[in-house]
Amino acid sequence: MAENSRMPVSLNVGVGEPSVPSEVTLEARNICHYFLPVKARRALLVIDGVSLTIARGTFTAIVGASGCGKSTLLRIFAGLVSPSKGEVLLDGEVTRGPDPRKGMVFQEDSVFPWLTVQKNVEYGLRARGRKGDVVRAEATRWIQAVGLEGFGEAYPRELSGGMRKRADLARVYATNPEVLLMDEPFGALDALTREALQADLLNLWQELRKTVVFVTHDLDEAAYLADVVVFMSPRPGRVTAILPVPLGRPRSPRIRTSPEFFALTRRFREQFGYAELGGSRALAGEAGTP
Ligand SMILES: Nc1ncnc2c1ncn2[C@@H]1O[C@H](COP(=O)(O)OP(=O)(O)O)[C@@H](O)[C@H]1O
Ligand SMILES: [Mg+2]
Repeated sequence: MAENSRMPVSLNVGVGEPSVPSEVTLEARNICHYFLPVKARRALLVIDGVSLTIARGTFTAIVGASGCGKSTLLRIFAGLVSPSKGEVLLDGEVTRGPDPRKGMVFQEDSVFPWLTVQKNVEYGLRARGRKGDVVRAEATRWIQAVGLEGFGEAYPRELSGGMRKRADLARVYATNPEVLLMDEPFGALDALTREALQADLLNLWQELRKTVVFVTHDLDEAAYLADVVVFMSPRPGRVTAILPVPLGRPRSPRIRTSPEFFALTRRFREQFGYAELGGSRALAGEAGTP
C-alpha cells in the first residue's frame, strides 16, 4: 500500500529560481474519487488520497500511465468534477465548481468551429464581462502572442492542428487565469509541431509566470517544461514520487540533446517503470510480495 502517497506532499518548486514567490496557489487535500460505471455493480476507485501543494508561478507536470486518473484529477482541480472526498483550495480558500481564476486546456480543441480565430478569442473575453474596443485589441494581442498573426479572420477548419491548438491557447491566455490547467494539450499533434508548441509555451510561461499544472504521459515533455514532476501510480491514482527538474531557466530547445537531459529522463523512465510495475511497493523493494 502506498502509505506515503496518503500524506500531504509539499512541492518544493521553483528549482534554480530563487526569485519565484513561494506562496501557495493551488492545493489538493486528500482527494479520493470513485466513479460508478454504467452497468457496473461496484464503484471504481480512480483517485486514492492525493494531496499536493503547488506554489504560485511554478510549472508542475503530472505523469502516469493511461487510465491512472490524471484527467480526473485535473478536472477536480478545475472544478469540473466534484471529488468523492477531499477538497481543492485556491489561494487558501476551498473552491467548488469552475472559477475564472482557473483556465483549462484540453487535448481536443475547444475552439468554436463556427467562429473565426478572432471571434473565438473575443468570446472568452466577453464571457468574462469585458466590453468595447478593448476586447478586440486584447484578442489581437493574444493571437499575435501565440504566433497566429494574420490568421485572426480564419476559421478553425482552415488551420492546421498546431495552429488550432495555438488559437485554443490564445482563447485561454486572453482570459488571464491565475492557474493554467493543461490536460495533454499537445498529445494529438505530430512530434515536430509538438516541440514547437512546447518551446513557445515555455517562452510565454517565462514571461507571464502563471501557475501551470500540465498533465502528460510524455516524460521528455515533462522534463523539458516543468520545475517538478509528480508521478502517479496506475489506477487507483496515488502520488508515488515527486521529483525536481534540476535544469536551469530559461530553457532552450537545445537542452533536450544535453547529457543532463538524458540523465534526467532516464531517471524519470526508471521511476515510471517502477510505478507501472506496482507503485510504491516496487519502489520500496518489496516487489513480488503479495
Ligand atoms: N465519467 C466516467 N465514468 C466512469 N468511469 C470513468 C469516467 N471518467 C473516467 N473514468 C475511468 O476512470 C479512470 C481514470 O480515467 P482518466 O482520469 O481519464 O485517466 P487518465 O487521464 O490518466 O488516462 C479510467 O479507468 C476511466 O475509465
Ligand atoms: Mg487523460
